[in-house]
Amino acid sequence: MQTTGQLRLSAELRDILRCNRCGISLEERGEGYRCLSCAREFPRVRAVLRFVDAPDYAGSFGWQWQRYAKTQLDTTGGAISDEAFRKRTGIRPEELSGKLILDVGCGMGRFSEVATRWGARVVGIDLSIACEVAARNLADREFVAMQADVFELPFAPESFDLIYSIGVLHHTPDCEKAFKTLPQYLKPAGTIAIWLYSGYNNWYRFSDVYRKVTHGISPRVLNGVFRVVVPALYYLDRGLRTVPLAGRPLAGIVHHVFPVSLRPEPEMRILDTLDWYSPKYQSKHTYEQVFRWFESCGLEALTVGDLTLGVRGRKPSWLTTRQTRGMSIESGAVQEVTNA
Ligand SMILES: C[S@@+](CC[C@H](N)C(=O)[O-])C[C@H]1O[C@@H](n2cnc3c(N)ncnc32)[C@H](O)[C@@H]1O
Repeated sequence: MQTTGQLRLSAELRDILRCNRCGISLEERGEGYRCLSCAREFPRVRAVLRFVDAPDYAGSFGWQWQRYAKTQLDTTGGAISDEAFRKRTGIRPEELSGKLILDVGCGMGRFSEVATRWGARVVGIDLSIACEVAARNLADREFVAMQADVFELPFAPESFDLIYSIGVLHHTPDCEKAFKTLPQYLKPAGTIAIWLYSGYNNWYRFSDVYRKVTHGISPRVLNGVFRVVVPALYYLDRGLRTVPLAGRPLAGIVHHVFPVSLRPEPEMRILDTLDWYSPKYQSKHTYEQVFRWFESCGLEALTVGDLTLGVRGRKPSWLTTRQTRGMSIESGAVQEVTNA
């Protein structure tokens, strides 16, 4: 049961897996794989193929997704992730059926859960041990989890029909660079969709200052603090809003100075607030910026999601991997190919 999906995916995976250092094919070795060139080994531990030795700066996410393993998972009741997936990517179920998908930064697997439910076969990668939680949560799905870094992905070029990354790239040290690594792994005419934090408003200014301290605190301690502080601020907000005239502006000021999640669901409030304050890196972006990134990779048919800041685009069928690999292609090169 546990490996039904994983076994079915593995024949296909063998073909697209590459050494994340030298790009050479891998051979199976025991439970894992080994590079045919540099002999680096990539073990499978707790149902996850490992292409990194440590989570680097993403350790807090590992703790967070172990602690809140099912809070946002639709299989436990609601359709929160289903709705978020549609709004942030603009992807519809009929686009995914039978497709091979890469979920970049899968976390505990809530969006892979949606994609597999819609009929996709999904490879989920994450830098942190959150991918172990995803592997457990989706053990009965067509899903394979890998611990890997977006900057060193273990795949052959042109492997996936669709790539999405939701709420991840802005948590890397260089969001633009992270995005530009991805189009090379798309098949011609494949789709890529990303969702990033918006840089259009400034309610988070104070939290950017607090995060300089909070990201250094262990997530366990931070979570303990938020379990007290967040409900207190939530009920203060509710209370202030009932006060005539000055109540609402006052509530706004408190929220501006102490930004925490004010969602109605108590567990989500804590999770969202922890997710906001614990990461080391957290950048915000504009459509102008992100459209430029997409265009410089030669992607076309750009559209925005219903929720800021989601952008999706398509790799033209004439665009070669060489042109999209690594960095952006020059607009002149695109022109040349278009005219050819
Ligand atoms: C806010 S969580 C989002 C998880 C999931 N996409 C979701 O929306 O539920 C960000 C995730 O990005 C992962 N991440 C951060 N940097 C990464 C990198 N360089 N490569 C792969 N994953 C990374 C973290 O480990 C974390 O699980």
